[in-house]
Amino acid sequence: MSIEQLESIAQAMVAPGKGIIAIDESNNTIKKRFDAVGVENTEEHRRAYREMLLTTPGLNEHISGAILFDETIRQSTKAGVPFTKVMMDNGILPGIKVDKGPFPLAGFPGEVVTEGLDGLRDRLNEYARLGAKFAKWRAVITIGEDMPSSTCIDANCHALARYAALCQEAGLVPMVEPEVLMDGDHDIDVCYDVTEATLRSLFASLYEHNVMLEGTILKASMVLSGKDCPEQANIDEVAEATIRCLKTTVPAALPGIVFLSGGQSDEQATAHLNAMNQMGPHPWPLSFSYGRAMQQAALKLWAKDMTGNFAAAQKTVAQRAKENGLAALGQWSK
Ligand code: 13P
Repeated sequence: MSIEQLESIAQAMVAPGKGIIAIDESNNTIKKRFDAVGVENTEEHRRAYREMLLTTPGLNEHISGAILFDETIRQSTKAGVPFTKVMMDNGILPGIKVDKGPFPLAGFPGEVVTEGLDGLRDRLNEYARLGAKFAKWRAVITIGEDMPSSTCIDANCHALARYAALCQEAGLVPMVEPEVLMDGDHDIDVCYDVTEATLRSLFASLYEHNVMLEGTILKASMVLSGKDCPEQANIDEVAEATIRCLKTTVPAALPGIVFLSGGQSDEQATAHLNAMNQMGPHPWPLSFSYGRAMQQAALKLWAKDMTGNFAAAQKTVAQRAKENGLAALGQWSK
């Protein structure tokens, strides 16, 4: 695969007014989501739920790609059509989560490092054969007392860079995701400093590992007040701080930046993205790669009556896609 091909996939992921739906919850994470709405975590329920999401009528109007989990990329609709075929027929790029999740970082209590590099080359080649066009790896940075350490930031960014180089070798666009968690009572300035340090380390590592930025997408967390901080920054303050932080750390050669929602409400996630785009133009398209902020309304409805509410749940997915698509253009209003 040439750099031009990687570049055109990356550009399609952030096409104007389009973003990504993240449905790559591991079986442990989807269990938490299902438990909250009283759905038993069976393989068939996971398949049926993802079928509902992926067959949403009109999904491709505002969604360019979907990130799948290992189990999901091998699954099919009830009628037997592989999910990847349903997606490609609809112009939705299949993506795949390839990390193995965060594990405690030895020597640094409370901090984690994402694992999954061993055997990654073979797994990426298999995912490419299964139809994946891009991949995702999530690193988790926790803010707390004396945290994060620079060791934790650098270990995670080193792994992200090794993953990204392997993706490009396999012909997949790497989505690099260093998530600075919103848990904690820190203020927005602390989040700014940690996000800045993380992105500096990330782009230094990508450079050292010969990763082609033109064929890479950044999945970023927004610069926010900690969830338990008594003083919450407003929408414009978050948008302004996030843009300022990205501009000082992210090279303009990058084809695009998408955001995770990270526990924000649906409306907050949309409003923040919209405000950032209203402050444009920026060096890169800014769009979304939301998991919870795309799915939570649909999951609640579907859980109440999987068959009876199938179409109604899909309507909420289409609605969330439309609102976030408008926010990616700075054209959303409440
Ligand atoms: P949230 O939008 O729910 O944070 O999920 C996005 C994601 O893919 C995290 O890795």
